[in-house]
Amino acid sequence: MKSVITGSGIGVPKNVVPNDKLARIMDTSDEWIRTRSGVVERRYADPGQGSAELGMMAAEAALAAAGRTTADIDAIIFATMTPNYYFPGNGPVMQAKMGFRESMPTFDIRQQCSGFLYGLELADTLIQSRKYRRLLLVGADIHTPLLPWNKGWGTTIGLEDREVTPEEYAFNTAIRDRAVLFGDGAGAVVIEGVDDGDRGFLTARLFTDGSNIEALYMRGGSHRRPWVMPDDVASGDLIPDMQGREVFKQAVSRMPEAVRAVCETAGVTVGDIDVLIIHQANLRIVEAVAKQLALPPEKVPHNIERYGNTTAGTLPILFHECVADGRIKPGMLVCFTALGSGLHWGAALYKA
Ligand code: ACO
Repeated sequence: MKSVITGSGIGVPKNVVPNDKLARIMDTSDEWIRTRSGVVERRYADPGQGSAELGMMAAEAALAAAGRTTADIDAIIFATMTPNYYFPGNGPVMQAKMGFRESMPTFDIRQQCSGFLYGLELADTLIQSRKYRRLLLVGADIHTPLLPWNKGWGTTIGLEDREVTPEEYAFNTAIRDRAVLFGDGAGAVVIEGVDDGDRGFLTARLFTDGSNIEALYMRGGSHRRPWVMPDDVASGDLIPDMQGREVFKQAVSRMPEAVRAVCETAGVTVGDIDVLIIHQANLRIVEAVAKQLALPPEKVPHNIERYGNTTAGTLPILFHECVADGRIKPGMLVCFTALGSGLHWGAALYKA
């Protein structure tokens, strides 16, 4: 039996935020953002719209595409680092709001940019256990609440229309290396145990190295008393920290290693890959990985220009778009790869 993706869908907010809107509130430019990261625009959710809401949008579309209803699903896996609540995770939110049956588990996982990749491995393992037949796997993240929204960010989606103060401009500029990269979005797939043919999940190689968590992390958490401090918002301590160059360096070496490793495990060559669904953190990373693997641009699609980095949403959004427009066709060998905070990284092979 193989684990087959029988439907996919996406959930993205309506608010499109081009680079120029960020240049209004901090010292940056469309030219810098495009050339250094490849991002042209991203989408920001409305207040009240969380990763659960975007995940539900994606899940509804994926269920419809698979010809399934909530009653058909045996378990939900929800990957996000930005759940609607500190606890519980998004699984129970989705279970209640979408009317999934109570007699099934929901698993909340949080491997950041590698969340969907880890979710694929988990989904396949659950299906291969034969205890679960049909799963819903969701990857979703909302970055906007992590931004200093009280410093003029409302102008980006029309909630306010004013010039920022020099202090706000300076504060926003201090986080510009991270702030321009991210966007909000979700993707979902229905993944089912199917007995016919050779299509489906082949194998994955997943990795973790927690020796330098500070390379990409957010302060605040259960080791602190209390887990958030009154001054955290003013000081910017609730804004993710990122050593951009270090993460870049790790990404361009670890992802090719993982792709080679998973190919070796599956007994195929890197050249056999038809489509590389690679995490969209920076277009220069995407291009560097493609070059190292000697994969031509037509095998390495990207959509970072339209969404920025949507963390756990990125892989399923890109996968869905490639299936929808025919870049992924039945029989093609698809390789998923990602690297993100943790660090967690890896690669998975899937026969469409
Ligand atoms: N606009 C204008 N200038 C900027 C901006 C900006 N948005 N951001 C940084 N700069 C400036 C810097 O201040 C620096 O100026 P200086 O030379 O006067 O000091 C200059 O640009 C160059 O900065 P670098 O950090 O060297 O720029 P780099 O080319 O490394 O690009 C970037 C920075 C885009 C962050 C890159 O390092 C990167 O993409 N890193 C990887 C990010 C990543 O993969 N993150 C994963 C997140 S996934 C997850 O798990 C959540």
